[in-house]
Amino acid sequence: MSDTLQELRDRALAQIKEGITPEKLEEARVAFLGKKGELTAMLKSMKDLSAEERPKFGQAVNDLRSELETAIDEAKKRMKSAMRSEQLKAEAVDVTLPAKRQAVGHRHPNSLALTEIERIFIGMGYEVVRSTEIEKDYYNFEALNIPADHPAKDEQDTFYLGGDFLLRTQTSGAQVHEMEKGRIPIKMISPGRVFRSDEVDATHSPVFHQVEGLLIDKNITFSDLKGTLAVFAKEFFGEETRVKFRPHHFPFTEPSAEMDVSCYKCGGTGCRFCKGSGWIEILGCGMVHPHVLEMSGVDPETYTGFAFGLGLERLALLKYEIEDMRLLYENDERFLTQF
Ligand code: DAH
Repeated sequence: MSDTLQELRDRALAQIKEGITPEKLEEARVAFLGKKGELTAMLKSMKDLSAEERPKFGQAVNDLRSELETAIDEAKKRMKSAMRSEQLKAEAVDVTLPAKRQAVGHRHPNSLALTEIERIFIGMGYEVVRSTEIEKDYYNFEALNIPADHPAKDEQDTFYLGGDFLLRTQTSGAQVHEMEKGRIPIKMISPGRVFRSDEVDATHSPVFHQVEGLLIDKNITFSDLKGTLAVFAKEFFGEETRVKFRPHHFPFTEPSAEMDVSCYKCGGTGCRFCKGSGWIEILGCGMVHPHVLEMSGVDPETYTGFAFGLGLERLALLKYEIEDMRLLYENDERFLTQF
């Protein structure tokens, strides 16, 4: 090989070796092997050689071209594999690190309490019926024996939507809807959201939930009411729970009562939880007023029945020993995951 070729070979191989990026390598290729490259120029200069020298020189240039091409290919391959291992290193996953824990959803105390209430009443043969949150004045008040000028209407001020419509203040309207269907016996509970224009505090919220209950059949008496609700109280609060009925007034039941349960904290001796009385009020109830039956198309001469209504939040607070109703609505996971 001529000295010029030898010198060019050394330079080219050195530059290829230095070409540590794809761009540098391409530069080297163009500089030596490209159309205007040094090796091409070398071939062009062959015309100045003698006829004997020409084939030898041509062969040498071609050999060098193959050598350089191979060197560039190999450099490319090395570069690719180096880049790949860099990338692998950068993307390495440490499988020994502790995994992130996936948070699984949690049932709300209201839902837990409602599921329990439904389970108990379904066990006694009750059906769960849903009613509408937007209600006609008639179903929320009038048909429940609360005429326009009744003081009970003041206590249950609500959001009036225009026309005859309002957001229901109680689930009791569900009783009327069930009776109007004309199928007797009726044995249902109806849980749902109710609305009142109340200020938020530890025991009040403008939106809360009630569970209504209604049983209509022949020969239903107050002892059926007592027996049913006593079974419910024992199932919900514990076998040793006792119940007490206090006379009360609701426009749509006669007689009406409020039911207390013996305090499950102190067993009835009196404590901070039951404010010393030994009893905790949990619901309103009574025998459905004959006038209410009549207005809904049920013959009060043939049928009687009882109804009850309870506040779901109140029961959830009691069962899970939560002191402030607002906690139920704040959706703080630290609170909710405790139940
Ligand atoms: N609707 C009543 C309220 O919101 C609760 C109630 C009391 C419902 C007595 C009843 C009942 O069905 O018989 O205060």
